[in-house]
Amino acid sequence: MQVVETLEELQSARGNLPSPFGIVPTMGYLHEGHLSLARWAKRECASVGVSIFVNPTQFGPQEDLEAYPRDIDRDLDLLKAEGVDLVWMPTVEVMYPLGFQTWVDVDALTQVLEGARRPGHFRGVTTVVAKLFNAMQPNRAYFGQKDAQQAAVIRRMVVDLNFPIEIIVCPIVREADGLAMSSRNSYLDPAQRTAATVLHRALTAAVGAYEEGQRDAEALRSMMIEILSTEPLARVQYVSVADPETLLELSGSIERALLSLAVFVGKTRLIDNMLVGMAKSTER
Ligand code: PAJ
Repeated sequence: MQVVETLEELQSARGNLPSPFGIVPTMGYLHEGHLSLARWAKRECASVGVSIFVNPTQFGPQEDLEAYPRDIDRDLDLLKAEGVDLVWMPTVEVMYPLGFQTWVDVDALTQVLEGARRPGHFRGVTTVVAKLFNAMQPNRAYFGQKDAQQAAVIRRMVVDLNFPIEIIVCPIVREADGLAMSSRNSYLDPAQRTAATVLHRALTAAVGAYEEGQRDAEALRSMMIEILSTEPLARVQYVSVADPETLLELSGSIERALLSLAVFVGKTRLIDNMLVGMAKSTER
């Protein structure tokens, strides 16, 4: 496994890798969710690259950039064990050269859900992902359904900017009790960790109701809010039943939807989602 930092090193290492070349962009502190993406890439591509970069521009001023967990040695051991060919760990100076002023901005899709609560977040994400694509020149890029809106926004960007890259969205990897894996779960103390299962319980209940015939968007939203409100350590930021493509809120009777939520447990902001009414064949 080659580990590189500069653009020059990256480009020469990339040149020697066979196509199709698949990449997994990450911010490190890897868990099974990230590793599952590397495994999908490994299964489907002739070579695999992973980027590790805690991207400052996607964090808001009140967010956890400084506190964001890091453990590069452990990350590299894990990636080596997965048979990853190349790891790129650019410095902030490589990604944001002095005088940086060029941004990639996806419009309507970033105005709702996470984008509405985290101003500037997606501008940071799309800019850094476009730069990763330019530098790494992948044929395929693997993202997690955990960040459903991020995946939708990146798909849009790739179409709009004519990146010749296939975007592959892989299922959410969960802990045994249902909590979606996240680097931020490490912020939770034991009581908060137990409380955090309420996100999964709320989503599962709504999916169950949908499967039993409940089609009313508002009823599904209320059901999730009610379950979340039983957990005293949880503070709901939003609960959404949205169109999986436009991400706009639905009302009345629905066919298919992205059920998603953002909840604070203590100071830790957790997100999770599930799809209803979608053909499973579009997913890995
Ligand atoms: P990060 O939070 O490190 O996540 C990297 C990738 O892992 C994302 O595609 C995310 O959706 C996926 N992922 C995270 N938890 C997952 C889980 N439990 N199951 C499946 N996939 C999971 O997302 C980012 O980094 C950044 O925004 C990035 C795209 C790297 C741009 O900076």
